[in-house]
Amino acid sequence: MTDPQLQRPPAEVRFADELARLREDDTAPRPPGWALSLVAARRFIVGDERAGISRKFVGDPSLIDRSLVTLATSRGLMLVGEPGTAKSLLSELIAAAVSGESTLTIQGGAATTEDQVKYSWNYALLVSEGPSSRSLVPAPMLRGMAEGKVVRFEEITRCPLEVQDSLLSLLSERVVAIPELPGPDGMVFARDGFTVIATANTRDRGVNEMSAALKRRFNFETVFPIADFRTELELVEQESTRLLERSGVGVPPRRDVLEVLVRTFRDLRGAGQPADRLSTVMSTAEAVSVAHAVGLRGWYLRGEAGSPADVVECLAGTAAKDNADDLARLRRYLEQQVPRRTGEQWQALHRARHLLPG
Ligand SMILES: Nc1ncnc2c1ncn2[C@@H]1O[C@H](COP(=O)(O)OP(=O)(O)OP(=O)(O)O)[C@@H](O)[C@H]1O
Ligand SMILES: [Mg+2]
Repeated sequence: MTDPQLQRPPAEVRFADELARLREDDTAPRPPGWALSLVAARRFIVGDERAGISRKFVGDPSLIDRSLVTLATSRGLMLVGEPGTAKSLLSELIAAAVSGESTLTIQGGAATTEDQVKYSWNYALLVSEGPSSRSLVPAPMLRGMAEGKVVRFEEITRCPLEVQDSLLSLLSERVVAIPELPGPDGMVFARDGFTVIATANTRDRGVNEMSAALKRRFNFETVFPIADFRTELELVEQESTRLLERSGVGVPPRRDVLEVLVRTFRDLRGAGQPADRLSTVMSTAEAVSVAHAVGLRGWYLRGEAGSPADVVECLAGTAAKDNADDLARLRRYLEQQVPRRTGEQWQALHRARHLLPG
């Protein structure tokens, strides 16, 4: 039983019943080491209304097919794209579908070391009994290999190049040597089902160019932002409703307010007037989080659903951050573009423009 107070249990826990049902009905062939067939894994991710499987990722289903095929060939899968396009969510869902486990995850960053990728030691045991499989502390990559599971490597391009390079031989030879351990324990061979899903942000790419040798070991898939307004609106509605319920908010978000919010995000992405485009990334993920904050404000400050004025209050912190130019652009948008729109909710947004700071 899961702890209901967990803020965000992993996908295999959140959707345990869906996974169990899919597994039961799954008659299609499965690649060696996989928990589900490709067909069932795809249904888990894109949903299947008739079978009561929820849609979790919105986007091109052929992207999912290509990704799953890549993994079945045991090549690495690299998901690239703008921030907030659900790369991490997709990698979590794929890992949960393919391995039944999405928590073998390495979070890449400037301080990531090889120890955090492969293995380290329990120093108390190491000192008292020397190197042994008891004193070895396996990191996600080693566990994924030994157990035949998908390993997720988040933000791989932010890792130092030597850590990226340490993956090279591992991915081609499919073995990790542990020189300290004698005998057969000193070689950990990868089992069927082991593969790597990495994610990388197109914005951070310059920080640490990915090594060319590593690039060759991955198939790249680009995850694009949601193109269609209605689809994005539905996703923001579904996700924010769920988050608000979890936060103890007693009323669902208002549709008209969400419409204004999603449309505003799209405008500030430069979808309408390029001049409105902010330098901050106005991703769907951010739209969901603003919709959540708007609902919280309405409920906990006034006991009602969030209003367009709450949208303005929340936008400053999300959209403009600490960038004065973005704040000026946002102000201009609220003053000039918003009043041209018809509808009471747009007028309310316009009236609330003085709530922007500064
Ligand atoms: N196409 C989509 N399908 C489903 N959810 C989406 C989609 N696009 C954005 N989201 C929303 O964004 C959230 C996931 O963002 P996630 O952290 O996975 O993005 P990311 O691409 O990894 O971002 P970053 O580059 O900042 O790490 C989801 O929880 C969901 O609410
Ligand atoms: Mg991410």
